[in-house]
Amino acid sequence: MRRNRSRDWVRRLTRESNVSPDDLIWPAFVQEGQGVRTPVPSMPGVERLSIDLLVNAVGEAKSLGIPAVAVFPVTPQELKTPDGKEAINPDNLVCRTVRSIKEAHDDIGVICDVALDPYTTHGQDGIVRDGEILNDETVEVLCQQAFVQSQAGCDVIAPSDMMDGRIGAIRKALDAEGLDHISLLAYSAKYASAFYGPFRDAVGSAQSLGTADKRTYQMDPANTEEALREVALDVAEGADMVMVKPGMPYLDIVRRVKESFGLPTFAYQVSGEYAMLRGAGDRGWLDWEKVILESILCFKRAGANGVLTYAAPEIAKLLAT
Ligand code: PBG
Repeated sequence: MRRNRSRDWVRRLTRESNVSPDDLIWPAFVQEGQGVRTPVPSMPGVERLSIDLLVNAVGEAKSLGIPAVAVFPVTPQELKTPDGKEAINPDNLVCRTVRSIKEAHDDIGVICDVALDPYTTHGQDGIVRDGEILNDETVEVLCQQAFVQSQAGCDVIAPSDMMDGRIGAIRKALDAEGLDHISLLAYSAKYASAFYGPFRDAVGSAQSLGTADKRTYQMDPANTEEALREVALDVAEGADMVMVKPGMPYLDIVRRVKESFGLPTFAYQVSGEYAMLRGAGDRGWLDWEKVILESILCFKRAGANGVLTYAAPEIAKLLAT
């Protein structure tokens, strides 16, 4: 066995997976203001940027060869309501961001999350009545949210809400408005995970959510077969690409989804995964540069076509050197 590992040239020749900037999607946080950057304490190295700074950062990401960025808004507290109606305001932060990015850089993909949690006072992804997250009422609002984001110029709508039937409903709603060119990247197998903690700090939904959880709509971390059913439904409803989330603790799901459906499959290396690797790196317990590159390679080996990772710009820089 060691002959194929004996020299760098033969290792390269026999290598099954490789990492390139083409594998990366950069999730970025945007906030109101001008020239403002605010660090996220639980995600060292990650900052919430105002639109002007984000537009520049997206330009850099593009020049590093990153194909797409996913935009997440930090909604000012005073705009949050129980029904999350700021989500469907065509002039909300995320829509203004998409327009500004597209004006400056036309050739990088812009992905928008569809879910109500950045906009609701209770931090849930949907509309709540008597303590219950309403499915069909929520889906109607998600269709409008997808519409305003598409009108603003995004390329991909990525529903992360885990309501039933939303992929089909959004596809139909967009097609009816002549927006059939918009792609759907479904967060198909999204688990009710504690690894989302730092993200909820970053967008300010942690305090809204309090001690509540999302287990009546996000998946049980114990389940695999259910993930395949979720993906099958989303594919039937018109998903162009699917996602598994979180990433590294769920690579078995990535593998099964890729093998079962063979369609573009992405994995989200979520905030908690980033925080673990970065936190250990910052303490000198792990070699950050080596582990972050290895982690992306492992996603590729498991069958992912690409990875959403907060480290995307850093990884692309490492790959360039
Ligand atoms: C919102 C959303 C979440 C993430 C992406 N979109 C949080 C949640 O579902 O509570 C998490 C991303 C991360 O942890 O990096 N629906």
